[in-house]
Amino acid sequence: MYSNLEQIQSGSFSTVYKAWCSTLKKYVALKVIPKQKYTETGIMNEFKIMKLLGKKHPNICSMIDYYEDDNNYILVLEYCECGDLYDFLSIVKRQGSVGHPALIQLDFIKIIHQIISALTYAHNLGIAHRDVKPENILLTKEGNIKLADWGHATLDRVSKDFNIGTDNYRAPETFGCLNGYDTIKCDAWGVGVTLFYLMFGQCPFRNAEIPANGMDLYGFGSSSSSSSLSSSSSSSSNSHKKVAKCVNFQQYLVDPYGFIYRYFLEPIVCVHQGRPYNSNEGKPSFYVWQDMVNIYQIFYVCRIIVDNLATIDADDRFMSSSLILFDKVWNYNNNFNQGGVDHEMKDFNGVTENATLSNGKSNMTNNNNNLERKQIIGKSS
Ligand SMILES: Nc1ncnc2c1ncn2[C@@H]1O[C@H](COP(=O)(O)OP(=O)(O)O)[C@@H](O)[C@H]1O
Ligand SMILES: [Mg+2]
Repeated sequence: MYSNLEQIQSGSFSTVYKAWCSTLKKYVALKVIPKQKYTETGIMNEFKIMKLLGKKHPNICSMIDYYEDDNNYILVLEYCECGDLYDFLSIVKRQGSVGHPALIQLDFIKIIHQIISALTYAHNLGIAHRDVKPENILLTKEGNIKLADWGHATLDRVSKDFNIGTDNYRAPETFGCLNGYDTIKCDAWGVGVTLFYLMFGQCPFRNAEIPANGMDLYGFGSSSSSSSLSSSSSSSSNSHKKVAKCVNFQQYLVDPYGFIYRYFLEPIVCVHQGRPYNSNEGKPSFYVWQDMVNIYQIFYVCRIIVDNLATIDADDRFMSSSLILFDKVWNYNNNFNQGGVDHEMKDFNGVTENATLSNGKSNMTNNNNNLERKQIIGKSS
């Protein structure tokens, strides 16, 4: 029933193949999980979650069938022709260079909408993904995304499983806290860091871990009396010092806007202005999204992520309100590019001035001629 198997990816737990399904007369993906690598409870969880998710949502990679033989569990999934976003961006990175970024002919705002729509659908069913990252977001040949890999998903709203997910994308409280963490709020953090990766091709920190002796604000320390699920009662409190394991994350804790500006935006601005950038910070990205070539717009998107998704206090993470704000930025940007809304960008300019962008409106759209206009959707190999 399945023929022409071609290996797509092989990871620590599974090998994924593209295969022709003669019954359906289309390609499918076979996720083959060796029994010795995975517990029955684990695969049953993934199977149960995928069944619950069903086939209704266009941005969730659905399960077509399920098999088991003596050695393997096999999930039959709808096949996404363009692979995952991590691999996609790796190809794009190779096509661009510093000062000559490749142009991604996809709308970033559409991708944001689709990721949040898929997660909101899952959350409404009581399912949290817990491993949101570019590797688990698949791309179709139409340029739409499908959220995949529900292997870490849970129906528990509160979890004390502190060994789940991928370090770069995990919310601080998922590394350990007294009362358990809110699984849905930790997805919002994952979306925030994923959006940073998609925008700049790098994660801001290796991990967001705050060791038990690093603070007591979040209920990490034994002295804490926090009753919140996972986070602080007041993220602005100065009475406790939060000390992170990772240097970058420590800087983010102390000054999130400043860190994000220095790490992601300053290198872009430096390249744009022909100045050298500090190579110890992030590197300028090697690509731009076609609907996101204005530095102010990029700056504003970063602010929304910092304020609404990658906030230390889990209670302050809201995917739906961040989406409304993202849409506003895109509306402003359309008008801005048509020369319409200077006054509405004032607040924005103020922030960028504080953040030492001093040459006024340095609009990256001027740089468009330098872009390598390449059709890069789809893998050529
Ligand atoms: N349905 C699919 N269509 C195309 N590629 C897929 C599909 N499912 C998985 N892949 C590829 O296989 C990789 C591993 O699959 P995933 O479900 O994430 O397994 P793991 O649990 O091993 O991470 C993905 O990152 C993606 O590159
Ligand atoms: Mg995966």
